[in-house]
Amino acid sequence: MLCACLAIAALAAAPGVAASPQAKARKVIIDTDPGTDDAIAILLALNSPELDVRALTVVPGNVTAAQGLQNALKLVSLANRCDVAVAGGAEHPLFQKLITAEFWHGKNGLANVELPAPKCKADTRFGPDLIIQMVHEAPHEITLVPIGPETNIALAVLKDPSIVPLVKEVIVMGGSISGGNVNAAAEANIYNDPEAAQIVFQAGWPVTMVGLDVGNETLFGRKHLAQLAKTHGPQNDFMVSVLDFLVKLSEKFGDTGSPMYDPLAVGEAIDSTLMKTQAMHVDVETRGEFSRGETVANRRNEIERNVLHGDRYIIEGVDHVKPNVEVCTSVEGERFIQLFISRIEGK
Ligand code: RIB
Ligand code: CA
Repeated sequence: MLCACLAIAALAAAPGVAASPQAKARKVIIDTDPGTDDAIAILLALNSPELDVRALTVVPGNVTAAQGLQNALKLVSLANRCDVAVAGGAEHPLFQKLITAEFWHGKNGLANVELPAPKCKADTRFGPDLIIQMVHEAPHEITLVPIGPETNIALAVLKDPSIVPLVKEVIVMGGSISGGNVNAAAEANIYNDPEAAQIVFQAGWPVTMVGLDVGNETLFGRKHLAQLAKTHGPQNDFMVSVLDFLVKLSEKFGDTGSPMYDPLAVGEAIDSTLMKTQAMHVDVETRGEFSRGETVANRRNEIERNVLHGDRYIIEGVDHVKPNVEVCTSVEGERFIQLFISRIEGK
């Protein structure tokens, strides 16, 4: 194996010879609660040469842990990718009861579409342990892409904080700086485990937040569905069924298309020119009566300094707060959707 790698490296160094795509592919671990948009994200990742998907770790969220594991195994089986490790993880959020979202994703979490029984087998490792092991095996190379609640990622950090400087980047689908989708303040993935999200956001590794702000600007609509339906293949046809379910659901609530929340997180890993970001300090509210689960972003990275004088505080200055998150603030939504279609059509 070593000699093959050396041969590839030598070829890649030769003038006019591009390094093999695999040699440049970005190693990712996707933590997922599949989930209709998770399924779209996962098939996009598995059909994109820019990414080397090392594993899927499953977290409860849209569906239970058991349903999510089955769905993840069906997805890698559909894509003929039994080389990708698929491991179960947490059974519930850190400190609250699980809230499942069959309302939005269908009874089975995959738009009520029945995929064939999986031919791929689950990895026996616990998801957080698999993350820890893979990060140590490939220091500074692994990008974590959590597209469900952050429970597994938080458990990995709590168990082995030494992974933090070894992870290349954490691209989170979650949060919002423009209001919530489960209520006025909170986005679903954060809302389902706020304590886990705060651990992940404050860990000290590079975090890119792909939130509702860009997902809501990337709507997959009927014209996109008609475009994708022109071609066929097992993954293509499955995506058309899932997206038909999602487009109809979005129209039922007065929208013109389905937001590509999870797929955009994978899009960020594929091509970071798709979105613009702004460095902000972000905290996750874990106690607010109306705001538990809100990602509270400090756009100016400043905070007033109040000093107690007798029975009152006096503002005596403004202190800088260190940004900890690159928040995605704008997106080329149509360019992303066309990239997605180009990767799935005919597969
Ligand atoms: O708020 C959107 C997020 O919640 C997506 O990850 C979706 O799959 C659900 O988990
Ligand atoms: Ca998800």
